[in-house]
Amino acid sequence: MRLLRLSSLLWSIASFHAANHFVHAAEAEDYRIKALPGIADLGNMTQYAGHIEISPEHNANIFFWLLNSQNVKSSNKLVIWLNGGPGCSSMDGMFLENGPYRVNPDMTVDINPGGWQDHANIVFVDQPVGTGFSFANTDSYVKNMTEMAISFNTFLDLFFEVFPERTTNELYIAGESFAGTYIPYIAQHLLQQNKAAGTKKYDLRGLAIGNGWISPLHQYEASYDFALRENLLKGQYKTIASEHLEYCRASLERQELISIGVCEQILSDTIDSTTYMEDDHFYCINQYDIRMTKEPSPQCGITWPHELHDVTKYLTSKSVVQAIHANKQMLGWTECSGAVGRALDYDESQPSYYLLPDILEEVPILLFSGDKDLICNSLGTEYLIGNLTWGGAKGFQGSTAQEWHIGDKIAGYNTTARNLTYVLVKDASHMVPYDKPVEMLDMINRFIGVSDGTVKDTPSWVGPQPNEDKEIPAPSSDPVQSSPETSDGEGEGEVNEDEDDDPWSEYYNW
Ligand SMILES: *[C@@H]1O[C@H](CO)[C@@H](O)[C@H](O)[C@H]1NC(C)=O
Ligand SMILES: *[C@@H]1O[C@H](CO)[C@@H](O)[C@H](O)[C@H]1NC(C)=O
Ligand SMILES: *[C@@H]1O[C@H](CO)[C@@H](O)[C@H](O)[C@H]1NC(C)=O
Ligand SMILES: *[C@@H]1O[C@H](CO)[C@@H](O)[C@H](O)[C@H]1NC(C)=O
Ligand SMILES: *[C@@H]1O[C@H](CO)[C@@H](O)[C@H](O)[C@H]1NC(C)=O
Repeated sequence: MRLLRLSSLLWSIASFHAANHFVHAAEAEDYRIKALPGIADLGNMTQYAGHIEISPEHNANIFFWLLNSQNVKSSNKLVIWLNGGPGCSSMDGMFLENGPYRVNPDMTVDINPGGWQDHANIVFVDQPVGTGFSFANTDSYVKNMTEMAISFNTFLDLFFEVFPERTTNELYIAGESFAGTYIPYIAQHLLQQNKAAGTKKYDLRGLAIGNGWISPLHQYEASYDFALRENLLKGQYKTIASEHLEYCRASLERQELISIGVCEQILSDTIDSTTYMEDDHFYCINQYDIRMTKEPSPQCGITWPHELHDVTKYLTSKSVVQAIHANKQMLGWTECSGAVGRALDYDESQPSYYLLPDILEEVPILLFSGDKDLICNSLGTEYLIGNLTWGGAKGFQGSTAQEWHIGDKIAGYNTTARNLTYVLVKDASHMVPYDKPVEMLDMINRFIGVSDGTVKDTPSWVGPQPNEDKEIPAPSSDPVQSSPETSDGEGEGEVNEDEDDDPWSEYYNW
């Protein structure tokens, strides 16, 4: 806290001296990234980054990093990406998930072929203030989801002033984990602004949420049920967890808060149940990926993915901070800020679950779940959808899961009804774009309507395979050629596995 105050003081001095410069900083060219350490040439990837001040009296500044699409076809799409936490930086998305870059241990940087930069304009935003490179006086951190949505809207309006050509873009908001709470609140607020203005001020076209924290009522039940299903609660831990579940239910009955301490105990019980000692060291399961059963305890996934170490080193180096115009924030980048989460401790906002039906009347939503996540597991997403009434009916009704193929592999299962799509991603963790970059790219391209039926030159499809040789009408079906991908009977539509963990939630248990 003291450090943050100090940094704001330093910044006021700096801004005083640089007053003239900052009048100009409202122009796009001032945000342009000209070079990045670790990469010889930025090529034609036009990118902009820096702070936008959303409230001078609170010294509140939001950091963004915008990459302009390299593809004319998708130049009218703007995708905002948010990581969760609360308090975790979207630089995770940028450098570990759907962004264009990957940092090597020697601080050189490679291009991530699964990044979304070729298919949309994409902007990574550190929010709310206090997250990542964003900052503010600590007494003005957001205290509830309404404040968060209003702040975000202020940022977005100022961002559009800097990049007016983006104002008319088709807007999508995507994110992960606790962003499952942020995103519906932001969407609700933008849609309200549209109604108030009587125009489509924000051309919001879709929301995509991966392993989202959306409905405590259903997802805490799934904490228990999923752990049982995956055989992660054994002996006394099963009893302890079921007692915690009883207290959790009672607490939810009193008030449905976004996060409830006693309910979080179920995850702790599960982790305890998987903890063991070997050669004087304790190990446990990775709460973001149940396939990883030998993680150092007590972190149990918090330091995963291991590339985070290099990303942190990169983002705290002076030359990188300079290059991306992040120097207004003087504390240095940390992946997740505990202070942002603590400011939300007394938030009584209702779970974002209750916002979904109204949003779905206007905007499609994609909920996707990596099936190996524990913390925000797929069973919880399935429960909340099964209990949700939207578009005049409850749950998916008659819609059944369709196989989603990429080449000869089943990538997952897609169920769609009345503007809601649920995709269960096979063999994926809490961070689907980290594990499954190509699958994620195919999924998002479909969702934002830029898919051409291939991803990285491999055909992909949902449901029955489209006729491959439609343009070659004459020599018809050679059985060997016509369906190389499924050897019927393999993994028929059965869905579940799930669980994903949110690395951001490391600090807060979600
Ligand atoms: C940018 O460069 C990439 C790689 O060289 C190329 O595939 C793409 O077509 C280029 N995009 C534009 C808009 O020039
Ligand atoms: C959120 O904070 C605002 C004040 O900024 C307050 O008016 C509102 O009632 C709060 N919402 C909840 C759910 O507590
Ligand atoms: C789905 O969204 C569209 C707008 O994108 C809307 O016109 C339609 O009524 C919605 N469908 C349902 C069932 O709410
Ligand atoms: C509704 O949620 C409960 C957990 O709260 C779950 O047990 C049940 O299976 C869900 N119903 C459907 C239809 O998914
Ligand atoms: C899910 O399936 C529907 C219906 O087949 C399709 O229109 C949509 O593009 C698919 N969405 C994703 C994200 O896979």
